[in-house]
Amino acid sequence: VAHQVGIVGASGYGGAELVRLLGAHPGLDLTVIAAHTQAGEPVRRLFPNIVGDVVFDPIDLDRLAGLDLVFIATPHAPALELAPQLVEAGTRVVDLSAGFRLAPAAFATWYGEEHPRPDLAPEPASARAAQGDGAPAPGARGSVSRAVYGLTEFARQTVAGARLVANPGCYPTATLLALVPLAPLVVPGSIVVDAKSGTSGAGRGLREDLHHPHAHGDVTAYGAPTHRHTGEIETWLSALGGEPLGAVSFTPHLVPTVRGLLATCYADLRGGVTEHDIASAYADAYASEAFVHVREMGSFPHTKALSGSNGCQLAFVTDPRTGRVVVSSAIDNLGKGAAGQALQNANLMLGLEEPTGLSAVGVYP
Ligand SMILES: NC(=O)c1ccc[n+]([C@@H]2O[C@H](COP(=O)([O-])OP(=O)(O)OC[C@H]3O[C@@H](n4cnc5c(N)ncnc54)[C@H](OP(=O)(O)O)[C@@H]3O)[C@@H](O)[C@H]2O)c1
Repeated sequence: VAHQVGIVGASGYGGAELVRLLGAHPGLDLTVIAAHTQAGEPVRRLFPNIVGDVVFDPIDLDRLAGLDLVFIATPHAPALELAPQLVEAGTRVVDLSAGFRLAPAAFATWYGEEHPRPDLAPEPASARAAQGDGAPAPGARGSVSRAVYGLTEFARQTVAGARLVANPGCYPTATLLALVPLAPLVVPGSIVVDAKSGTSGAGRGLREDLHHPHAHGDVTAYGAPTHRHTGEIETWLSALGGEPLGAVSFTPHLVPTVRGLLATCYADLRGGVTEHDIASAYADAYASEAFVHVREMGSFPHTKALSGSNGCQLAFVTDPRTGRVVVSSAIDNLGKGAAGQALQNANLMLGLEEPTGLSAVGVYP
């Protein structure tokens, strides 16, 4: 029997990407496609790739609470209200927003508001220890009460037992996949992340600076040095890397593509660390991973090659002149950076094979 799932925020870019992915998923039955202002509108009016007569549903808590799992793909404010109600009604939730990615104090620092549900916020300090070895104990599924930060490759045991998964942000996903394996090899406080994202990263809302005549042909930095993803990167790099790595300099840029995110990360190497050590750290982390690929040295990843996939491609070089490692990490911001990873986490939470419905190779050229 297929699991019944729903999406809240299906009229946004992340939600609509989930609609597309779930249409090809053999084990999940998408029964609620809920939107806010777009409720009642045909899906195909906004997303012409989705054919048929289906219309956006209203957000009906009772109906959502009866499902096996709900994806929340709204801004964080509505997610902070909705997720606890669904979890308390017994429904599993994957939240694509930033509502449950940080501990309460860090949430207050980076989002400028008190966390309304500190009891459900994650505990980064214990995240790594909670991984342990092997599968979750029988009966453990759905037993973890706090939100679990769902960078899947570093959290699969806890994700499988979670009721609420905080799906990582797009920039943190690309950055953490590049840097977590290198945590013991780099100098704390030396990390610089220079990242670029296509315009779909900002969502479907209309904004002057995202208007075609402004964004096309342009590249600009924004948000530095206090972009909200900085706190998420710092928190989870230290927590999942198992080493206190200190503050990170993070500057995102808007580039005139629709999909695609590239994070180029720089760090000073600790004394005696060699290219071979870095290659081994990546091999240990990713040799058996389905979605994270380390390219041969000097062959840097292309964002376009990940488009429409759940993949992440990484490549590194070391620079003996500066003593630094440079790692370039590419994802589709709507794929591994949002809907793809959300589905990867949902598969684990529902006891399905982790890659189910995520086999698509990127569209290229
Ligand atoms: N875009 C990305 O690359 C990306 C990557 C990772 C994470 N995220 C996160 O995922 C979430 C969704 O992002 P997005 O880019 O898909 O946003 P989006 O395109 O702006 O869509 C937002 C969605 O939320 C709904 N919504 C807005 N206000 C609401 C409210 N008060 N109550 C209920 N629903 C409401 C909208 O419904 P209507 O359109 O019907 O009004 C729409 O479906 C955000 O939290 C974002 O930070 C996005």
